[in-house]
Amino acid sequence: MPRHLRTIRDLSPAEFDRLLSLARRVKADPSAYRAKLAGKKVALVFAKPSTRTRVSFEVGVAELGGQPLFLPTGGPAGLQVGRGEPPHDTAKVLSRYVDAIVIRTFGQDEVDALAEHGRVPVVNALTDSEHPCQALGDVLTIRERFGDDLRGRTLAFVGPGNNVTHALMLAGPRAGLDVIVACPELLPPSHVVLERAREEAARAGTRVYVEHDPRRAVKDASIVYSDTWVSMGQERDAESLRAKLAAYTVDDDLMSIAARDAIFMHCMPVHRGEEATASVVDGPQSVVFDQAENRLHVQKALLLLLLGAEPWT
Ligand code: CP
Ligand code: NVA
Repeated sequence: MPRHLRTIRDLSPAEFDRLLSLARRVKADPSAYRAKLAGKKVALVFAKPSTRTRVSFEVGVAELGGQPLFLPTGGPAGLQVGRGEPPHDTAKVLSRYVDAIVIRTFGQDEVDALAEHGRVPVVNALTDSEHPCQALGDVLTIRERFGDDLRGRTLAFVGPGNNVTHALMLAGPRAGLDVIVACPELLPPSHVVLERAREEAARAGTRVYVEHDPRRAVKDASIVYSDTWVSMGQERDAESLRAKLAAYTVDDDLMSIAARDAIFMHCMPVHRGEEATASVVDGPQSVVFDQAENRLHVQKALLLLLLGAEPWT
């Protein structure tokens, strides 16, 4: 059975660690991995826009010697799934042509259908529920800044409970990080994900919890993290989301409450003046472009492991 990355939960703590160690080696010496995926084809199925994810997967596959196929689901050049072909048929057909499927879409059930009915590894490149590749790149960035032992450090996510929040909540226990989600009461993270993350945190000796006051959440945090207030697919609710989140802008005052060596993180695209001020996004504590770069390295490591070019242990 192929391995998948449908959610961060697909990775045991040991596998999470292995993936990040490999990503660090891939980043330090990319030429050592240049032909590792020679002859392999990777389908990139995208039902939503993307800059970082699309380009880092396309470049990553090419750098490993493989061939990426960018397959949008919309428009005249789109896959038939975009006009109703069932995901399970798409899974079976694509599995006969390619060695892995990376998919960005709306429902998590579409990712699960590809994994269930296909014969090749499936990677979640963002759904409404989770963005695991983002959290992997983020933990690599955090380790680069603070070292591998993150025990006692806190990541404070300031914004709506969403796909990025969920991935970070699940990554925290695996990384040894405490995670606080500072969100409006009306925009909480998924209760199911929160329960799961709490169980995993209890086992790992870390904490995951929700706090509505952003000032209390960021106090002494090593990482202050924000995401767009309006996720892809939520455009119709933009006004109401902005109203609920008006008190959650990360500004210099909020950053001053965090730890002295705190970093500011954002998965991008970022809206200066909404979820964070320009002075924070472009300021000395910001690592947003390192995060964007690290997507490339972790995804290369992920594909090497999923396609069997490197061992999991
Ligand atoms: N952070 C992220 O996934 O960016 P894109 O939407 O540009 O891929
Ligand atoms: N929460 C955002 C993340 C974008 C990378 C969205 O889903 O649009």
